[in-house]
Amino acid sequence: MKVGIIGSGGREHAICETLKKSNKIDKIFCFPGNAGTKDIAENIDVDLDNFEVLKNYILEKKIDLIVVGPEKPLVDGLVDYLEKYKIKVFGPNKIAAQLEGSKIFTKQICEKYKIPTASFGIFENKKDAKKFLKSTNYPTVIKADNLASGKGVYICNNENEAVIAIEEIFNGKFGKAKNLLIEEFLNGEEMSFFTIHDGITFRTFDTAQDHKRVLEGDQGKNTGGMGAYSPSRLINEDLKNKIINKIIKPTLEGLARFGSKYKGFLYTGLMIIKNEPYLIEYNVRMGDPECQTILPKLKTDISEIFLACCEEELNKVNIEWTDKKSICIVVCSKGYPEKFKKNVEIKNLSKIKLDKDEYLFHAGTIDKESKVFAVGGRVLNFISLSENLTSARDKVISKIDKLNWDEGFYRKDIGYKVIDQ
Ligand code: AMP
Ligand code: GLY
Repeated sequence: MKVGIIGSGGREHAICETLKKSNKIDKIFCFPGNAGTKDIAENIDVDLDNFEVLKNYILEKKIDLIVVGPEKPLVDGLVDYLEKYKIKVFGPNKIAAQLEGSKIFTKQICEKYKIPTASFGIFENKKDAKKFLKSTNYPTVIKADNLASGKGVYICNNENEAVIAIEEIFNGKFGKAKNLLIEEFLNGEEMSFFTIHDGITFRTFDTAQDHKRVLEGDQGKNTGGMGAYSPSRLINEDLKNKIINKIIKPTLEGLARFGSKYKGFLYTGLMIIKNEPYLIEYNVRMGDPECQTILPKLKTDISEIFLACCEEELNKVNIEWTDKKSICIVVCSKGYPEKFKKNVEIKNLSKIKLDKDEYLFHAGTIDKESKVFAVGGRVLNFISLSENLTSARDKVISKIDKLNWDEGFYRKDIGYKVIDQ
């Protein structure tokens, strides 16, 4: 079977590597991939906004299955487009992708189905938003209503900070913003809960805890994710059932009213307060770096799972996991999530020797004449699986030390709530 992966991040490299373990896979294509996927797949440099060129390539190369990694092509309707040409695609359609594409769409479903979430207001202009600030409590949360790679969210401690957030969002810092949301601040612990769906049934797909802030101790600006561990320390059977019954099932019902099923990964971002789940946001894809953390634990052939989802036969597949704990630390370019240098060579990659249960997934890297250059904010993901998180993290850090990359930085405290307390 030939499989094509859409995307170029650590998540997509992890999906490639997991597919490679399957004996059913003859060839993997990555659109466009990175310097890491290049070693296991054929990287195809296409413009992901040009669906027609992409479709022509898929048909010409007779690719049997397409897996869409990132949110943007999903929100733009790539799945609907490829399915018109009878191409098998793993990922949600354009309507379902609104769960991530529009926070307001999701909040409306939450309201209708009484899904636990932060109370909120929607504002269409600076004046109304600023007026509302006079009556709000702090901290308060202000969010752009468009895709912003996890960066369009401000936790504001006072009115001054809130005014800056409103100005920046409406001035287009995260792209054109028609609306923003002002939301109640939920004070709990976050958890990423994953499910995989075939349109009829769904299965849980493990949990993780991501560290979104750039600095140790979960301080500083929000990023796409600085590292994660899996499973989350918070998960238990009772909580799992609450998440499914109070949040996921009603959401699927809401989507059905909009005329859509859900196929693909669903990432439910939660705040857990006293073993009660509150929805923060949905993402219509795997998390990054949660995907890199979770997939190495999967024992079942992932190509069978993807195919079953495309054929509405997920009920026939048993998804199995190793019991080991997993940790992922992301090495970023200095300056991220603000300005950082691009095209910086990463020299010591050949010195990294991976042992069993260790993985290195590239994210923002490209290959030029057999040298690897950093081109993104998040550059490399180091993962280790172990009986406990302490030894997993020690192993990861010793690998990153070997890399000794001057232009990068990483958080040494990933998983600290489990490991260091
Ligand atoms: P989002 O892009 O909506 O996931 O938000 C990014 C991050 O901001 C989340 O992962 C949380 O850390 C934080 N956040 C978002 N909404 C809230 C909220 N209502 N209360 C507290 N923290 C929040
Ligand atoms: N790790 C956060 C995200 O993938 O959105």
